[in-house]
Amino acid sequence: MDNKIKTLQQKREQALLGGGEARIAAQHKKGKLTARERLHFLLDEGSFQEIGMLVTHRSTDFGMEKENYPGDGVVTGYGNINGRLVYVFSQDFTVFGGSLSETHAEKICKIMDLALKNGAPVVGLNDSGGARIQEGVVSLGGYADIFYRNTLASGVVPQISAIMGPCAGGAVYSPAITDFILMVENTSYMFVTGPNVVKTVTHEEVTSEELGGATTHATKSGVTHFACPNEIVAIQHIKNLLSYMPQNCEDKAPALPYQPANETRPDLNSILPENASQPYDIREIISQVIDAGSFLEVHKDFAENIVVGFARLAGRSIGIVANQPAFLAGVLDIHSSTKAARFVRFCDSFNIPLLVFEDVPGFLPGTDQEWNAIITNGAKLLYAYCEATVPRVTVITRKAYGGAYDVMNSKHIGADINYAWPSAEIAVMGAKGAAEIIFKREINHAEDKEAKWQEKEQLYSQIFANPYRAAERGFIDEVIEPADTRVKLIHAFKMLENKVVNNPRKKHGNIPL
Ligand code: HXC
Repeated sequence: MDNKIKTLQQKREQALLGGGEARIAAQHKKGKLTARERLHFLLDEGSFQEIGMLVTHRSTDFGMEKENYPGDGVVTGYGNINGRLVYVFSQDFTVFGGSLSETHAEKICKIMDLALKNGAPVVGLNDSGGARIQEGVVSLGGYADIFYRNTLASGVVPQISAIMGPCAGGAVYSPAITDFILMVENTSYMFVTGPNVVKTVTHEEVTSEELGGATTHATKSGVTHFACPNEIVAIQHIKNLLSYMPQNCEDKAPALPYQPANETRPDLNSILPENASQPYDIREIISQVIDAGSFLEVHKDFAENIVVGFARLAGRSIGIVANQPAFLAGVLDIHSSTKAARFVRFCDSFNIPLLVFEDVPGFLPGTDQEWNAIITNGAKLLYAYCEATVPRVTVITRKAYGGAYDVMNSKHIGADINYAWPSAEIAVMGAKGAAEIIFKREINHAEDKEAKWQEKEQLYSQIFANPYRAAERGFIDEVIEPADTRVKLIHAFKMLENKVVNNPRKKHGNIPL
């Protein structure tokens, strides 16, 4: 037995070395951790259980039979994060550049299948040169096997992808299907075709970082939800993110202990600027309403006219969607609609109640928006709210104009409780524009047209730029003092804790894509 155990130990030691000392040193030189080091920082100490450590590839072309490394370029298994089960795979760039072979893909699929059967999240740490070139179509099939499972698992268990090196070609589509993507600045990139192909086809000269680095995807494309300065910060983000989520779609997110205290926030009564067209940062309101320091903003630097993220209220996870008056006046446009829609759908998939702060002047006008389909994209947000069955509460702080009033979690599309501050303005459009249209004749015939316009603007404003018409109809459940917002929300979400809504049975809806 001793000899047999020694053989096992030798095999294990070989696997732990991945592609060997020299390649590990090269990985460190690039400022990157190895696949196993990343797992060490990600998982609770001593919790990692590896699966498939001794798997090797079956390829024989190009002399591949002579080069084989146990594990085949990916470390897979399960472990705990903050005491909760999670399935992981971590690609090992030191073995054939982390490229995906048939067996590498089989290992990933195996843990995805386990995650689905046992209802726990999957975290993928990606660092790969893409399809194993020596294997050809077999490798492409392996990718497709993963994409298929990503899709089956979507909405069943949370899936998180951290990009910690190259991720190019069709390989990008696995992370793209998962719920959240994190990228590391300067050492990771994602693109469908790299700078050389871009240069040949479009004659554009662009670096990998500019084309598909973390900053690019966090600000321009929105492909990544987080751009992290280094791998350790990325790993911390993954742990933090998971703490707001349940294990699966049948589960509830864990609640932290909550000690009731004085929940009024007097500062909120004076937080809005005097003039209703002045900007303010909605994050200041969010931070006063939620449990101290609990906001985890998602997609922070993309479509900044809407703010989305996770928070806790009285210890419980909530998802927040808030128009941001400090950026483009909080207007809804293509990017903000798709950003918010995806977040709403994630929260709804995983039983995370939604809190919406509304201060929106409407949808952004212009040819750019119309020609790029603001109609279809705005409809995504509308659709996402309409189909959401989680507890849904809205607070209108100021403007709720036009179609945006309907879209932003209005009562009519299934919100449970709708509050308005006394500063709310709920109308079809702003008073100036409204007066110009409905009093056009009177204004044109007046001696002093400007004065008449102002008079009519004031009249419209008096009648509609307040929350009371909506409250009289019951479209607003209560007009509240801003200082009471936190108290009211704690009560409302507690009351909605056991909400059950069953939408009509269907195969699946047809969200306007
Ligand atoms: C096999 C690969 C590999 C690959 C890298 N290696 N990519 N082996 N298949 N796809 C190996 C290298 O031969 C090298 O082996 C080691 O990994 C490290 O690679 P280097 O090139 O030395 O590293 P670096 O300079 O950091 O460059 C990394 C890289 C580059 C930019 C990723 O390796 C590269 O361009 N690789 C090819 C990328 C690619 O075209 N992949 C196919 C994309 S198509 P040694 O023995 O020297 O250590 C695709 C389709 C998926 O993925 C479709 C799904 C639907």
